[in-house]
Amino acid sequence: MRIAIASDHAGFVQKDPLADYLRSHGHEVVDCGPATDARCDYPDFADKVARLVARGEVERGVIICGTGLGVALTADKVAGVRALPIQTVEFARLAREHNDANVICLSGRFVSLEDNEAILDTFLTTEFAGGRHAVRVEKIMREDDPDFPGVPMDFGM
Ligand code: RB5
Repeated sequence: MRIAIASDHAGFVQKDPLADYLRSHGHEVVDCGPATDARCDYPDFADKVARLVARGEVERGVIICGTGLGVALTADKVAGVRALPIQTVEFARLAREHNDANVICLSGRFVSLEDNEAILDTFLTTEFAGGRHAVRVEKIMREDDPDFPGVPMDFGM
């Protein structure tokens, strides 16, 4: 699989080890930076990964910051991207089976490298379940369409 990876300074300690881990499992890795652990702004790097995924230049994205939260907020704003912050293997499985997540956002400060490797394994090997989940994911993605009026709201008023 072709996978883009990036981090900020807080996730940098795990970026190269996770990139090496992915390569050792046969994946092609596109490193979107940074090149050092100098303080930087996570949106700059999360956005690079998200746009590669949105353009179909890579199949999946992996972004690491301190918590995984800021990079998820950033990446999920790019049309076509479904980015989620994940701290457990079970959530990685559900993010794929139910949400068809194409970008995973990891914590470099609160989750060990070994646990993130296991999380990545699950994220990359679990298929989307489709069916009722496909209907829901389609509704999420329609929000990308500026002509989509949104889900009708009827509060009985
Ligand atoms: C950097 O200090 C930290 O805010 C960042 O890595 C991330 O956790 C933000 O969500």
